[in-house]
Order: sequence, then structure tokens, then C-alpha cells
Amino acid sequence: MANILIAYFSRKGQNYVNGQIKNLAKGNTERVAEFIQQAVGGDLFEIETVREYPEDYTRCTEAAKEELRAKARPELKNFLDSVDGYDTVFLGYPNWWGTMPMAVYTFLENYDMSGKTLIPFCTHEGSGMGISGRELKRICPKADVVRGLAIHGAGAAESAAEVSVWARGKVEEAGRKERK
Ligand SMILES: Cc1cc2nc3c(=O)[nH]c(=O)nc-3n(C[C@H](O)[C@H](O)[C@H](O)COP(=O)(O)O)c2cc1C
Repeated sequence: MANILIAYFSRKGQNYVNGQIKNLAKGNTERVAEFIQQAVGGDLFEIETVREYPEDYTRCTEAAKEELRAKARPELKNFLDSVDGYDTVFLGYPNWWGTMPMAVYTFLENYDMSGKTLIPFCTHEGSGMGISGRELKRICPKADVVRGLAIHGAGAAESAAEVSVWARGKVEEAGRKERK
């Protein structure tokens, strides 16, 4: 089986869930990332920023909006030494203002994803993947960026079955392409 990396960004704390502010002990995207690992194996890597985002939901949306406006590249706590050993990269993030959190841009720009199958997944509160698929193709022009999976954040904890079927299918597809 191909070597699989599951890299994700996810934020615990206050979040907007079906119209109400709730406190999440575990981020929605992290849950989905774990379901993928349970289904297809692989290494999990959490993309974490040095500066934490505000726990308060509204303040966090403001901070994220400002980073997007400024095209910021927030500093990350850790990087993988290399992604050379991976053929297949699942990349997960919440939809923030219609795209990926800027920390995911920092992560991607640090590596050469040429020749890898890049499989995005995102959690959201209504806007699906937003423009993130297009952004990924722009940032990683030599990767094979496939169609991603958008999971409604409020249903992330109950998405194991859907996520498993999808992830297994994507790994099989990637394997077939490699064998050609
Ligand atoms: C800063 C911020 C911006 C967001 N922007 C959007 C958005 O534009 N569209 C949307 O559908 N959901 C948006 N959301 C909701 C998140 O995408 C959703 O709650 C997601 O499941 C959070 O994932 P996490 O728990 O892994 O961080 C936003 C949430 C935050 C905190």
C-alpha cells in the first residue's frame, strides 16, 4: 500500500455549531482525520501555529479574517522533516472565510508536493470546500489534487462510516493510477 500522510489543521474551543456557539473539546477536522487513519492507516500530523488563535469564536473569526486579508503565513510549531516518503497526502482543514486557514498555506509552501496524490478534506458550517480545491492546485501545481470531501462540522463526530468509505476509495484510486 502507498505510504500515507494525513496532515490537518483543526481548532478546539468555541465554535459555531448549527447556529449556536459550543465549546469543542476536539476539533471537527481532527475527528475526521482520525477516522481516515482508522480506515486506511498512515501517519497523522497536526499543523499547529506558534501563536494560538483566540478561544472566543468571534475574536477568532476576526483574527483569521485579518490573516487572510494580509496573506499572512503564520509560523508553525513543527514541520515534518520531509514528505518524500509519502505518495498519498490527505490534507484536512476547516473552511475559514471560504478557503483554508493561512497556516495550511504555510505548511504547503514548505514542501515539494510534485508527483503526490493530494486528497483534501474539510469541515465547514455551510460553505463546503469553498475555493480551497482551486487554491491547492495553484499552490501545488505538480501534485495530483483530487476532488475532496466536505463534511458538515456539526456532524463530524458521526461521520466515521462516510469518511471510511470515501478514504478507502481514494486510496484504491491512487493505487490504480500509480500502477498504470
Ligand atoms: C475563523 C473561522 C472562519 C470560518 N469561516 C467559515 C466559512 O467561511 N464557511 C463555513 O462554512 N464555515 C466557516 N467556519 C466554520 C468552520 O469551518 C467549522 O466550524 C469547522 O468544522 C471547524 O473545524 P475545526 O473544529 O476542525 O476547527 C469558520 C470558523 C472559524 C473559526
